[in-house]
Parts: sequence; C-alpha cells; structure tokens
Amino acid sequence: MSRYDDVKVSLQAAPSTWLITGVAGFIGSNLLEALLKLDQTVIGLDNFATGHRHNLDDVQTLLTSGQWDRFTFIEGDIRDLAACRQACSGVDYVLHQAALGSVPRSLDDPITTNANNIDGFLNMLVAARDAGVKRFVYAASSSTYGDHPGLPKQEDIIGKPLSPYAVTKVVNELYADVFARAYGLDSIGLRYFNVFGRRQDPNGAYAAVIPKWTAALIAGETVFINGDGETSRDFCYIDNAVQANLLAATATDPQAANQVFNVAVGERTTLNELYTQIHRHLLPRYPHLQGVQPIYRDFRPGDVRHSLADITKAATRLGYAPSQRIAEGLERAISWYVR
Ligand SMILES: NC(=O)c1ccc[n+]([C@@H]2O[C@H](COP(=O)([O-])OP(=O)(O)OC[C@H]3O[C@@H](n4cnc5c(N)ncnc54)[C@H](O)[C@@H]3O)[C@@H](O)[C@H]2O)c1
Repeated sequence: MSRYDDVKVSLQAAPSTWLITGVAGFIGSNLLEALLKLDQTVIGLDNFATGHRHNLDDVQTLLTSGQWDRFTFIEGDIRDLAACRQACSGVDYVLHQAALGSVPRSLDDPITTNANNIDGFLNMLVAARDAGVKRFVYAASSSTYGDHPGLPKQEDIIGKPLSPYAVTKVVNELYADVFARAYGLDSIGLRYFNVFGRRQDPNGAYAAVIPKWTAALIAGETVFINGDGETSRDFCYIDNAVQANLLAATATDPQAANQVFNVAVGERTTLNELYTQIHRHLLPRYPHLQGVQPIYRDFRPGDVRHSLADITKAATRLGYAPSQRIAEGLERAISWYVR
C-alpha cells in the first residue's frame, strides 16, 4: 500500500476537522470533495472573488447527505482577521488555498493581488497560530522559480520573481518560515505547477490555459498561443494536488515539517503539444474542429519560459507519487468540460 492509501484509511478511522480557504475555487472544491468522501469534518471559507457557489453545489451532488452535513461554509474574506479567527476555531489542519491567482491579473492590479495574497496570508497565519492548529498547509507556486533557468526545478534553487503574483508567493514562504521559527507554527508549502482538472474555471480574462482552450474550441472560438508555442509547463492533474495536500497535512517525518515541496508530475509539455492533445481529444466529439489551427501572438509579460519540476523531495519526505500523468488527466478533464 502507498503512504496515500495508508493516510486515507487512518483518516477515516479517526476523523479530523479541516479548514479549507478558497473552498469554492478549483483546488479548494476538489479538496472539499476528497475530505468529505473520507468522512472528515470540514469548514470552508471563501468570498467568491473567483470561486463559485456552483462548485460547492457540484460537490454536494457527489456525496451522501451524511457526508455533506459535515461541511460548514463561512462566506468571508481572508483580509478580515476576525473571519480568519472564526474559521480557524477548533480546526486540526488548515489547507490554505484562498488567493488571487494569475500572473496577468497581478500585472494589471498589483495592489489587490498583494492585499489578498500577502495581507490575507498573514491574517491566516496569525489566526492558525492562535487557534493552535496542528499544521498549516498552503498553496505556494512554481512562479517562485522566477528567472532561474535551471531545469528541473529543485526547491532550494530559485531566481528572481517575474510578476507581482510571484512576489506574493515568495513572501508567503518567507512568512511561513518566520512563523515556524518565531512561534513554532508548523507549516508546509506546496509549490503547485499548473494544476488542471474538473471545476477549473474556463471563463474570464484570467482563465488558465487548459480550461480556456477547451472551452474556446468547443464554442468554435479562436485559440491564441502566446509566443511561439515552445513555452513549456509541467501540467499536474488535480488528483495529484489533492494527494499532496493530504500527505502534507499528515506527514510525521520531522524532515517534512516547515518545508516547501514541488507538486507536479515531472514531465514537460509545450503549449504546441498541449494544443495538439486537447484538439485530438475533442475532435471525435466536435467535427467542426477538423483542420482548426491556433493563432500565434506576442509572448505574455511575466511568464516563465520553461517549467519542469523535480519531485524527488515530495516523493522522499511525503510519500508523494502522482497517480495521473497529463494524458490521463486531460482525458478526464476534457470529458468533464464536455459534460
Ligand atoms: N491552479 C494552479 O495551477 C495553481 C498554481 C500555483 C498556485 N496556485 C494557487 O493555488 C490556490 C488555489 O488556486 P485555484 O486554481 O484553485 O484558484 P481559484 O481562483 O479557483 O480559487 C481561489 C479561491 O480563493 C477565493 N478567494 C480569493 N481571495 C479570497 C479572499 N480574500 N478571501 C476569501 N476567499 C478568497 C476565491 O473566491 C476562490 O474560490 C491559490 O493560492 C493559487 O495561487 C494554483
């Protein structure tokens, strides 16, 4: 049995209370689904800035009423310390996902990104510390690698941030480290690399590439590739990110505490390859896509050119073993969008 299987069995045997911030978002709602299916008690905090009530409704349809009854939703904002304190009360584990994502959004409005991602993060650290939670697991980001050209990315070697968003994620790691040293707050940062899957929002100017292209192709709209299409990413299916969160929260290895870990698959896919794969998945269902080509435009400022993770550290210290590679994940994600 993998460590993840062990963790699921032991959680079900002895349920805990979890707080998920950003619970109405993409990753948050998937964490909610996984934890409630394991009969955990979950508190969720969200202000619906980019998350949606329909994500929570969707999770509810996948659960028994007994499982859903173990969920308490608080509509609130992490920029409000009182809301963070209310949400942290009586909680064993925090999975902090709430933030404003997107590099372009942060370039358009760095002040709002800073307030949500840094002030909000600090509020959550203070509230978690004062509530005496067992561990604070938080969404860090591969954007922290910034301009460092080395591949694959190893946790200790980072460059300079290329966007305000990346700055906020670097600062989160610095604050978490200081709270561990100064106050003994146990935390783990998970540097997600382009997570994708069910319930990721395809709409809006700041949508991520996989849901955006999938929705555009289905609707017969133009797909734009920023740059020459040789920009590459380590696309990580959502189930792998869920696994990493549960492993991180429950890790007992002292070498795991107060660390950051890459969460990815360890495979690089260019945007051109990604377009081809999405197009190939959709073509049998949408004949209008025959011969449809993307349009190339300028590179997007703030974007890292190549991204590929070394996942050895998470494998060694957390027992992380991604169960889905990009091809399997794309099949599942695209089937979900088609439905
Ligand atoms: N999806 C990825 O590929 C990826 C990659 C790296 C890091 N991350 C990080 O993972 C986390 C989750 O990302 P996601 O893809 O699920 O995005 P998302 O936008 O779907 O989810 C974020 C959620 O946080 C909520 N939120 C935002 N500001 C808030 C505030 N002030 N108070 C309360 N709730 C607030 C939003 O309403 C939303 O429900 C974020 O911290 C993001 O930066 C995501």
